[in-house]
Formats: sequence, C-alpha cells, structure tokens
Amino acid sequence: MDSIILAIESSCDDTSAAVIKNGQVLSNVTSNQEVHRAYGGVVPEVASRAHQVDIVPTVNAALEKANVKKKELSAIAFTRGPGLIGSLLVGVSFAKGLALALDIPMIEVHHMQAHVLAHFIEAPKPKFPFLCLTVSGGHTQIVLVKDYLDMEILGKTIDDAAGEAFDKTGKLLGLPYPAGPQIDKLAKKGQPVFPFPKPKVAELDFSFSGLKTSILYFLKKQVKTHPDFIKENLEDICASVQHSIVSFLISKMEKASEQTGIKEIAIAGGVSANSGLRSALERKGQEKSWNVYYPALQYCTDNAGMIAITAHYKYINKDFTSQEVTPSARLGF
Ligand code: KG4
Ligand code: ZN
Repeated sequence: MDSIILAIESSCDDTSAAVIKNGQVLSNVTSNQEVHRAYGGVVPEVASRAHQVDIVPTVNAALEKANVKKKELSAIAFTRGPGLIGSLLVGVSFAKGLALALDIPMIEVHHMQAHVLAHFIEAPKPKFPFLCLTVSGGHTQIVLVKDYLDMEILGKTIDDAAGEAFDKTGKLLGLPYPAGPQIDKLAKKGQPVFPFPKPKVAELDFSFSGLKTSILYFLKKQVKTHPDFIKENLEDICASVQHSIVSFLISKMEKASEQTGIKEIAIAGGVSANSGLRSALERKGQEKSWNVYYPALQYCTDNAGMIAITAHYKYINKDFTSQEVTPSARLGF
C-alpha cells in the first residue's frame, strides 16, 4: 500500500509543508516570515503568531501541488524540536488536530536529524557511514551518520552557531537579517585580505564568539581613523569573514575524517547553501579523495521536505507518536 505523509516544519521562522509518497517528495512549500527583518533577528512571539497565520494556507498549497487529498494521507509528521517553543507548538498542535480528525498516526521528527536526512531526498545520496557537518542558525555539529536514524554527534559549537556568526557579523556591517546569504553574495566580489584569528577549540568542537568579537574590535579600530571603512571595503570584509568561518569548519571536518577514516563527507543546514563553503569542500575533497555531498539549495535552509523524508524512514519502522506529545525546545538525539 502507498504511504503518503504530510510533513510540517515550524521550528523557527519558516512555515513549511511537504507531501511525500513512498519516499518521493511531491511538494515542498515554504512561507518565509519577512516580518523579522525590521528587528534584525527572529522575535519568538512574532514568529509563533506568523506560523498561526501561515500554517493552513501553506499546508493547503503543499497538498494541492502534490495533488493529494487529506483523506488519502497515511500519517502526519511534524518537527518536535529543537527550536523556538512557541513556533514548535503551532506545528505540533496542528498535527495533533489533523491526526485526530483523519484518524491517522503522527510521526515526530528531530529537526537536526532531518537536516542530515535531506541528503536522501535526491541523488547523489551518501553511503553509510558518513560524516555530516550540520551548520545552521542554531547549531553547528559534526555528525557520524551510521544509518538513517542512527546518528552520533562527534563535535559541536561551544557558543555561537556558524549561521549566527554570519548573521551577527552582518549586523555589525549594517546588513539585514539573515545576513548569511548577503555575505555570501558580497564575498564573491571581494578578496579575503583581512586576517582574523582562527579560534582554538579542542578536538572536533567549534567556537565562533571570539571571531565575532575580533571582527567588532577590528571594525571599531578602522572606523576611528577611516569613517567610511566599512562602506568602502564591504566586499573584502565579507570575503574575509566568510573565509575565516569556512576554513575553520573545513579544518574540523578534515580532523573528523582523519579520526574516523571516513571519506564520505556531507554538509547540511542553512549555511551549507554558502557558495564559499561548497567550493572549499570541493577543493578539500579533491585533495583528500573524499566523496562530497550537499543538498539542493531548497533543502539546505529550513524546509518540510527534510521532515518528510525523515518521517518516511520512521513510517517504515512504524515509529509513531502519541497524542500526549509536547514540543521540546532542546530535544536531544
Ligand atoms: O537551517 P536554517 O534555515 O535554520 C536553522 O535551523 O537555524 O539556517 C539558517 C541560517 C541563517 O543563519 C542564515 O544566515 C544561514 O543559515 N544561511 C547562510 C546562507 N544561506 C543561509 N549562511 C551563509 N551563506 C548562505 N548562502
Ligand atoms: Zn534548521
């Protein structure tokens, strides 16, 4: 019998819905919340309210695009965590209501596992075991992926996430939130001429707060003698910031590959959309004989397609969730 699953993602500031049929994603519709731009970051209460407005039209659009009727659904999947509690609550409550009304099972999905499993939506797909660098606005992790639902975190950030490093630096440069994509674009036209110190962190862990501070002091010092420094050097500053973040990420992946002997290397999460990270990984891959993988751009940043593919594997295992489920802001693996 066909398995047709509706998946919902609402962990942060994107409301997304997707439909998957027998492991094939038929639709993936995302509504971005532009409302946060004015605040220079995501405002949790505003995000929660926007999810409430967006969830019904987004789900309807995903069903329509997939040409699937609600009564055909086999299950409904949702992000249980980690994320903003008020945002998660909207998706969880919606899923509970729909599951009850349609009398179908619910499947809870871990947002970070879903970022990793985004690699299984389209070919080429990594082979187990592989290492995945998951880099987003809230997380930075090196994950050992033994099987679809068997993952172990080998390293993580001890302070800011990689996406946060992009966004907070962008704020210092006067760029709108989220600054990651803007820095990526501007960096293409610049050169990494300003050196920033490489953070020193043990083993496979990361740290980005020091980088942000050194960029802040560097800018303050330059602006004192040269008020238009940022405006005149924006592209080079962006290229330098991106180069620092990317080379730090790549150096840790190199270490992880050496320690584990694994040469199947993947990246996932919003920052995996970064063109500098992709080309640096490509270069390092050639040097080290790695097979490198990155998801299609629409499956890098938050999306329900990745929730759907994770739910597909859980559905096969009949790994369902009860109506008592509650969202979890700090859900572990
Ligand atoms: O995975 P995601 O959509 O949401 C979270 O789960 O956090 O990641 C969002 C993060 C933001 O920090 C955003 O600036 C960053 O991903 N990002 C990028 C790029 N596209 C998105 N960072 C650098 N370069 C990009 N092209
Ligand atoms: Zn995410």
